[in-house]
Amino acid sequence: MKAPPSLPLLSANKVDAGYGHVRVLEKVSIDVRQGRIVVLVGRNGAGKSTLLRALSGLNRPTSGTITFDRRDITGARPNAIVGAGLLHVAEGRRLFRRQSVTDNIELGRYGLRLTEQEHDRRVNRIHELFPILQEKRDLPAGSLSGGQQQMLAIAQAMMREPKLLMLDEPSLGLAPVLVDQVLAAILSLRAQGVAILLVEQMVERALEIADDAYVMQNGRVIAGGLAADIAAGDALQAAFMGEHGTPDHSGPRWSVS
Ligand SMILES: Nc1ncnc2c1ncn2[C@@H]1O[C@H](COP(=O)(O)OP(=O)(O)OP(=O)(O)O)[C@@H](O)[C@H]1O
Ligand SMILES: [Mg+2]
Repeated sequence: MKAPPSLPLLSANKVDAGYGHVRVLEKVSIDVRQGRIVVLVGRNGAGKSTLLRALSGLNRPTSGTITFDRRDITGARPNAIVGAGLLHVAEGRRLFRRQSVTDNIELGRYGLRLTEQEHDRRVNRIHELFPILQEKRDLPAGSLSGGQQQMLAIAQAMMREPKLLMLDEPSLGLAPVLVDQVLAAILSLRAQGVAILLVEQMVERALEIADDAYVMQNGRVIAGGLAADIAAGDALQAAFMGEHGTPDHSGPRWSVS
């Protein structure tokens, strides 16, 4: 069932989460509406990955609620959350480098029963989105460029036709031209109706393609709103300044062009 436009697809409400007794997230609230690209920015250690882990059920919230597609998924198991249509492509590309591109895409449907027709429809959709993966379908995943490997990681997730895809630093370690390709792929996903929650260190670039944005600092959300407003506001600068008012080495990495 689709959420009506007035209801966010994903809603985190005052979520606390961490690791063992270490509390990282403090009363984090964010919304992701249907068909939107939402970017999450903040310096290293701000809690961005921890938030994605809490949303995907890897870190159980100690307080607060998470709803997805009208269901309460607070404390649900990762499998159940994936089944509901919320997928998480974690930091770093987890591919089987020696196996072919096609085999890696097929791994994405692990545990799913698809008719042949449905299977082919999904593969065709992926090939439409990433023609390069069709071209290189028989080559080992390890022979792809970094950007293509990132596309393959996204393609793997696409086999499950997520309603919302969470991407943790998909541009990590990529040359600028490949970053462009990955960001373009994210725009194509949105055009296909997939909502995106994106964690990205290429802050300026990410804000350009995003609809909405949240700024995190020390485990809290310090600002949220339209990406254009966040790009023009003060919160970004505050979040990326060191404690003594000096720029922190951790970023953001502004684009060259
Ligand atoms: N497995 C873990 N066990 C304990 N503490 C952790 C663990 N992973 C992360 N942390 C701590 O949680 C805090 C938030 O880390 P997190 O990885 O969520 O930040 P981030 O915003 O994703 O940073 P980066 O930009 O470096 O990826 C940090 O203080 C970090 O040291
Ligand atoms: Mg991280």
